[in-house]
Amino acid sequence: MKFLRLLLLFVFVQVSAQQGGMWIPSMLKGMNENEMKTLGMKITAEQIYSINKSNLKDAVPQFDGGCTAEVISDKGLILTNHHCGFDAIQNHSSVDHDYLTNGFWAYKMEDELPNKGMVVTFIIRIEDVTPKVLEGVSALPNEADKQKKIQENISTLNKTLPKEAWQENSIRTFYDGNQYILFVTETYKDIRLVGAPPSSIGKFGSDTDNWVWPRHTGDFSMFRIYADKNNRPAEYSTENVPYKPKYSLPISIKGVKENDFTMVMGYPGRTQEYLPSAAVDQIVNTLNPAKIAIRDAALKVQDGFMRKDNAIKIQYASKYAGVANYWKKWMGETKGLKKSNAVAMKQKFEKNFQEKVIKAGKQAEYGNLLADFDKNYTNIKDYALARDIFTEIALRNTEILTLGYKLYQLEQLYNNKGEQAFNDRRNNLINGLGDFYKDFNPNVDQKVFEQLMAFYSSNYPKQFLPAAYENLNAVSLANTVFTQSQLVSYDKIKVLLSGDSKTVLENINKDKGFEVIKTMADNYLKNVAPKYDEINLKNIATQRTYMKAILELSPKSARIFPDANSTLRVTYGKVKGYKPNDGVTYEPFTYLDGVIEKYVPGDYEFDVPKKLIDLYNAKDYGRYGASNGKMPLAFIATNHTTGGNSGSPAMDANGNLIGLNFDRVWEGTMSDIYYSPDICRNIMVDIRYVLFIVDKYAGAENLIKEMKIISPKMKK
Ligand code: ARG
Ligand code: ASP
Repeated sequence: MKFLRLLLLFVFVQVSAQQGGMWIPSMLKGMNENEMKTLGMKITAEQIYSINKSNLKDAVPQFDGGCTAEVISDKGLILTNHHCGFDAIQNHSSVDHDYLTNGFWAYKMEDELPNKGMVVTFIIRIEDVTPKVLEGVSALPNEADKQKKIQENISTLNKTLPKEAWQENSIRTFYDGNQYILFVTETYKDIRLVGAPPSSIGKFGSDTDNWVWPRHTGDFSMFRIYADKNNRPAEYSTENVPYKPKYSLPISIKGVKENDFTMVMGYPGRTQEYLPSAAVDQIVNTLNPAKIAIRDAALKVQDGFMRKDNAIKIQYASKYAGVANYWKKWMGETKGLKKSNAVAMKQKFEKNFQEKVIKAGKQAEYGNLLADFDKNYTNIKDYALARDIFTEIALRNTEILTLGYKLYQLEQLYNNKGEQAFNDRRNNLINGLGDFYKDFNPNVDQKVFEQLMAFYSSNYPKQFLPAAYENLNAVSLANTVFTQSQLVSYDKIKVLLSGDSKTVLENINKDKGFEVIKTMADNYLKNVAPKYDEINLKNIATQRTYMKAILELSPKSARIFPDANSTLRVTYGKVKGYKPNDGVTYEPFTYLDGVIEKYVPGDYEFDVPKKLIDLYNAKDYGRYGASNGKMPLAFIATNHTTGGNSGSPAMDANGNLIGLNFDRVWEGTMSDIYYSPDICRNIMVDIRYVLFIVDKYAGAENLIKEMKIISPKMKK
């Protein structure tokens, strides 16, 4: 009887340990640590983050601004995703040295390839500085003054708070401006490419499989951090030496089971979990559909060219992947938000919120927030739509317009700052444009231009549409622009940009391509942006107060995590399958068998390298195969992740590396706005597959030797 009660209690605790949320590593003690232990974690919060001893956070830097990496050897070897290293791999590639297609492996340190501009940033210390940031703020009369004072305090504190000369202070805002946290960081600048599998492994399934489970992508690449003789950050130099980390992650190849505890540490970029229903409704029904349609058109054009021409494929691979990624994500997100009735769920939450406000007698302070949201989201709708259409068409997907916008800014700069500023910017521009034209194909862009200008003409809100683009013949405009504009080639634009400012400005204003972007940009900046900014500022202020109210009116035990903001976070959960639809169940694991099932010889997404097929046929998996005789490939869990978590380490209950995060499942991509533990899953490549590729496929034993690998039979 007593045993039964204990068992019941145990089961209850197991089930009630909640999941979801991205937590600040320095604040895990208490609720999070308890939950994590209930879920199976065997280490302590101190071992994840502390300022005194080396710990997990010392092995998890941000990778090149947008991704995460982890240190896996005491010689500064780091692991991240293939898609995070993709630009670097592409930059080192040419038709002759095609590392994208064939992979790249440095079998000696001398062969590692430097990457200009690439950085890796470690967190040294995290500290709540809210009182310091808010000093002298509450006394100020209005919102604008308060914000100004906050910004002043932040910039003073960044300069004055203690740090070493080679470190940076960076104060970031949490909970929409209700908390401020200081991060002391160290940024390493000499990062070299060590290894990447061929795209047919690292990007297997490409865009067809992107955001989808079951998955078979070996999405990893390896780099090495180099430091100066004192182990400090330094610009690239042949004198630099491999970085000696404070901590590097041991790697467990013991294998993963369903319901095992996992946690993921990394730098999630942006979530919007506390948006009101009015905002979610707008995303689902207005903004996402427009952005999806624009990218859909651009991608179809590029895909057509890439399939026919290998040189274009290399030129556009990285750009295409970037655009396709969020195109597809928005589709999954829209579907998921609809299916989970996110708008209705939010409305229910809001009703409840309103009741709490009344109960607490806080109507004066918080009673109008939801009505304000409703009003402002209604008012902002057309402006927000125009903004998204302009941004997607002119600043993101039509290359000639994106380039033209740089000239537009050059003209503005001249108008505001004069000759000297103009000259500096112009020279910078010319130098930087070489990279742009290397990957630019005017035939591709002309077709994109045609499609997107037609979209602009029929979908940009009528009240803002420039007269010149009403009933537009986009084909003929495209023709004129691409035959007459000087923006289509490096040689021509260099001529266009030469001479004194007066000549240049006169000439660019005669250019047909420039004329288009100038019309669009003038229109946007005069008719849309000011009003958008005005209403958006109101929404930001309302959101801050709303967040404050949510924090204040929720019980102490409530799990309210701050939205992602590209700072280091911990999320945890369990390895788990899911049921996306009636009658369908997904298992949490995939194997190399699935690669062979999906194999389409010669296909640009589903080709498989011969050597991998041979290893599969021979079942030559070395010590990395699973106990069922198969080669594990990927797995999913309930960790709450988002863009920026790519490359994040997935760790077991002991903090050993077991996988590499790289994606989420289609049905759960809505987790940026609404997380549901039923269907939101992150996707990780099993570390055993990574090591199998490095060791058995590439024969890079030099790298395996650097790592600390925990095998099933070894005692830890
Ligand atoms: N969806 C993943 C993330 O958001 C992977 C993207 C890279 N892969 C691709 N096929 N575009 O970054
Ligand atoms: N693939 C994403 C990344 O690059 C991760 C995600 O959005 O789940 O960060």
